[in-house]
Amino acid sequence: MGRRKLIAGNWKMNGLRADGTALAGALAADSGAGSDVDVLVCPPATLLAPVADALAGSRVALGGQDCHAKASGAHTGDVSAAMLADAGCAYVILGHSERRQDHGETDAGVRAKAAAARAAGLVAIVCVGETEAERMAGRHLEVVAAQIAGSVADDATAADTVVAYEPVWAIGTGRTATSDDIAAMHAHIRALLARRLASGGDIRILYGGSVKPGNAAEIMAVADVDGALVGGASLKAEDFRAIVRSCG
Ligand code: 13P
Repeated sequence: MGRRKLIAGNWKMNGLRADGTALAGALAADSGAGSDVDVLVCPPATLLAPVADALAGSRVALGGQDCHAKASGAHTGDVSAAMLADAGCAYVILGHSERRQDHGETDAGVRAKAAAARAAGLVAIVCVGETEAERMAGRHLEVVAAQIAGSVADDATAADTVVAYEPVWAIGTGRTATSDDIAAMHAHIRALLARRLASGGDIRILYGGSVKPGNAAEIMAVADVDGALVGGASLKAEDFRAIVRSCG
């Protein structure tokens, strides 16, 4: 069995009820997916319930953008993995570079959150990626290796874990890594996963960073690219559908 492609939309801190439910409704009616592509949207926490309603009965899955490592308790402003599952989520994005930057998230913290997510029955999408300075210094492979070693648990499986490679300098900038650079990094991540984990060869590795309808087909054709984590282009139904369709 080959790895099924996964196209995930990360809405980030965008969307009020009217436009979020309209977007979800449009994707529920037509996500652009053939039978061999998984489609996911990750709205902000305030929209999980109405988006779950809008997606009901469709093939589009729902995910959160973060969760706390604890199941419940005195953690003002946080959301637990069990709460996400209860709201209808099947996935949660963890360790996005914006959270690593804005909230000081560490590899160990991401690993703890991923354990909580998996315990709650969610698939953890663990994000890794180097900064521009790290790439310029030729350290991108070692930086991502350290993030994988620290953030991905030793018992992670293809059923409960997805890795997303998002070079920080490509996020929201309109710049994408070249196909050769993506191929080299995804092969590196694949080797790291396969060496350490029993199902490391089956874990999906997504690319993220300025994926658009115009570049998606080329990126999706790169070896070991098992889908995309899409930011800005996931906010327009037509663009997101076109990216889904680019999986072939
Ligand atoms: P953009 O697609 O807007 O570059 O965002 C990528 C991203 O951060 C997805 O998580």
